[in-house]
Amino acid sequence: MKVAIIGQGYVGLTISAFASGFFEVVGFDSNQKIVNQLNSGISHIEGIESTVLRKSIEVGRYKATYSGSDISDADIVVIAVPTPLSKDRKPDLGFIDAACRTIGEHIKQPVLVINESTSFPGTLRKYIKPAIEKYSRSKIEHLYAISPERVDPGRSDFNQKNTPRLYSGLTPEASERTNAFYSKFCDNLVEVSSPEVAEAAKLFENTFRQVNIALVNEFAQIAHSLGISVYETLDAANTKPYGFMKFTPSAGVGGHCIPVDPTYLAAVAEEHGAPATFIRRANEVNLEMSKYVVGRLAADNDGSLSGKSVLVVGVAYKPNVADVRETAAELVIEHLRQRGAVVSWHDEVVGIWNGESSAPLSGADITVVVTKHDDVKVQDILGSAPYVFDATGKVPGAKGL
Ligand SMILES: NC(=O)c1ccc[n+]([C@@H]2O[C@H](COP(=O)([O-])OP(=O)(O)OC[C@H]3O[C@@H](n4cnc5c(N)ncnc54)[C@H](O)[C@@H]3O)[C@@H](O)[C@H]2O)c1
Repeated sequence: MKVAIIGQGYVGLTISAFASGFFEVVGFDSNQKIVNQLNSGISHIEGIESTVLRKSIEVGRYKATYSGSDISDADIVVIAVPTPLSKDRKPDLGFIDAACRTIGEHIKQPVLVINESTSFPGTLRKYIKPAIEKYSRSKIEHLYAISPERVDPGRSDFNQKNTPRLYSGLTPEASERTNAFYSKFCDNLVEVSSPEVAEAAKLFENTFRQVNIALVNEFAQIAHSLGISVYETLDAANTKPYGFMKFTPSAGVGGHCIPVDPTYLAAVAEEHGAPATFIRRANEVNLEMSKYVVGRLAADNDGSLSGKSVLVVGVAYKPNVADVRETAAELVIEHLRQRGAVVSWHDEVVGIWNGESSAPLSGADITVVVTKHDDVKVQDILGSAPYVFDATGKVPGAKGL
């Protein structure tokens, strides 16, 4: 059995690593640099060890490629390409379309196509299947299924094996074959009645997080205005053993999922005339947190940041990963520069970002912590500037939300 996985990023490489324990895997990626790096046995994804990759390569179970001809004899094709927002913050299925073109142009025998990329309900049925048929230029009866990915990069307690996986095929045969594929490396498969339910469930999971994060971010502002500690209040509420789930405030949300997926749900809701008011407002609250944080810095520093050196600690969107997609640090830096601050940032995990390098953790007038990696010591943060503001709740002794 040969499995082609389109896209070798966080999702695609993770699936490749697990699937290559049981199948011959070809990881197709349009980025030649990534392909060459993977073929030399170097993983670019946290949680996927290069040693595991090298072992799969050695036993002939894994190969990366950017050549469509390498996937032409696959039995199963998994789509794991980005589903971002366009400049005007609308769903952008351009990468999905390109993946469909690759499949349509290179695969001439019936295969099982599984989509793992996150998108709105109806994407598999109304978009992916017709697009592959269009690019195939001949009538091939592929099987189609969806199994939205739930990987949380950098997390060790939940992985492909023990995270329940939703799936649904367009036909019973597609569902059966999807089950047979994932059951090799996933313990708990949950079949739902249609691909649309699986697609919607994935979006709702992340929308749930987005809305609750927005709520706690708004509450942080309320708590500050009342002169009480947001963290102590949340811990107090969290002593209730039922009906409460603790979320923590921050300078905003980042990553490929939380700031993006809810907008896919809102877009499809509004297209069908349904309200998406919570989703839209939650997004605004989370985006506005960066401005609020910068406002707090200014308020604590004589009302002006002009000419002051401000060090932003942590530009990855979450601790212990190098992923900077949609990071809240970007907006924090933008607002700081708009107020005339001289901004540098420290993040040894990210290293280089937007053409700038990580600065030393010292010598600033003001430090603001947006993301705290485990390796960054609290004492070093506190010693980096006379005024330190922590938006993470992990730096005791600093000012904070
Ligand atoms: N990162 C996560 O934690 C996560 C979790 C669950 C779901 N998802 C979803 O999974 C999908 C993929 O996300 P990701 O984080 O793996 O993205 P990523 O950016 O890490 O990786 C995508 C890879 O696809 C490649 N690519 C782009 N277009 C291509 C094409 N036409 N053909 C072949 N390769 C192509 C890119 O070069 C890149 O290496 C998205 O829909 C995302 O929302 C991501």
